Amino acid sequence: MGWLSAVARAVLPSATREWVDVGPLDEYPAESVRCVRVRGVDVAVFHADGRLAAIADVCPHMGAALSEGVLHGDGHVQCPAHDMRFDLRTGRCPESPMYTGRVYPTRVRRGRVFIRS
Ligand code: FES
Repeated sequence: MGWLSAVARAVLPSATREWVDVGPLDEYPAESVRCVRVRGVDVAVFHADGRLAAIADVCPHMGAALSEGVLHGDGHVQCPAHDMRFDLRTGRCPESPMYTGRVYPTRVRRGRVFIRS
């Protein structure tokens, strides 16, 4: 990435987002989580209830890996360090609104998983 692209990403992050191929859907078994690296960021991809959901694999509280947390049926992942929960659709933490995880749109095309980052 050139310096101009880096500046554009910093100033207008949504303008430079793109769909990144993170592998075949077969590598995301149902009821599992997989950590992938997307444009230099670790992202936890949860496959639960027939849906894929992606969130940065760094807890916004103190940095624990959310991919090692517990996924609840209500669509929240519980951090393994201090038990805060994060909504996989919004990234919001119901226990403390000051902490929000970064979530990423996901999609499947022709049997492959893509994350918009
Ligand atoms: S590091 Fe995740 S809740 Fe504290």
